[in-house]
Amino acid sequence: MEKIFGKPLITQEEIVHRIRELGLQITSDYAGKNLILIGVLKGAYAFTADLSRAIGLPVGIDFVMTLSQNQEKEKAGERKTITDPTLTLAGADILIIEDIIDSGSTARMLIDKLAVHRPESVRICALLDKTAGRTVDIKPDYVGFSIPNRFVIGYGLDYKNKYRTLPFIAVLDDRFRG
Ligand code: IMP
Ligand code: MG
Repeated sequence: MEKIFGKPLITQEEIVHRIRELGLQITSDYAGKNLILIGVLKGAYAFTADLSRAIGLPVGIDFVMTLSQNQEKEKAGERKTITDPTLTLAGADILIIEDIIDSGSTARMLIDKLAVHRPESVRICALLDKTAGRTVDIKPDYVGFSIPNRFVIGYGLDYKNKYRTLPFIAVLDDRFRG
């Protein structure tokens, strides 16, 4: 599929390498804690699967799903609803696993919603950080890559529910929009 999308913004090798680093960091930061990873579907499905296996701790795994008003196309800063987690989160150290933080409003909503369960701590790990898009004051605790303010696809991230299965991150060419 590289033939279609041209040069990746972030290659598969770079993703694998960065996830190994993040896994080691999280393993050391959460040693002895009751860590529960909460992956945010659908965008973070690939990242959650790979990152969780790079963490050398007996972690819990849960998922929430964010639902946009407009199923076709997510807009930055748009209000979304979030499904309930299934695990008991009281007293746990929660690490939210997100695909990308743009305006920061989804991350803010997730933190506020999960805090209601009275966890010991709530932090965020985002594969990608588009700092130029930020309108909400939020800073992820762990970031895979900071990227420019462009629309990207692949490794879980979609455009109209396509391109999630690309093994690398690419900027979506205008030719593929519509
Ligand atoms: P925020 O609430 O504005 O931070 O938006 C975060 C959500 O918007 C992410 O979880 C993605 O689902 C979506 N999003 C933002 N930027 C992109 C992008 O470049 N590609 C694909 N999805 C994106
Ligand atoms: Mg998402």
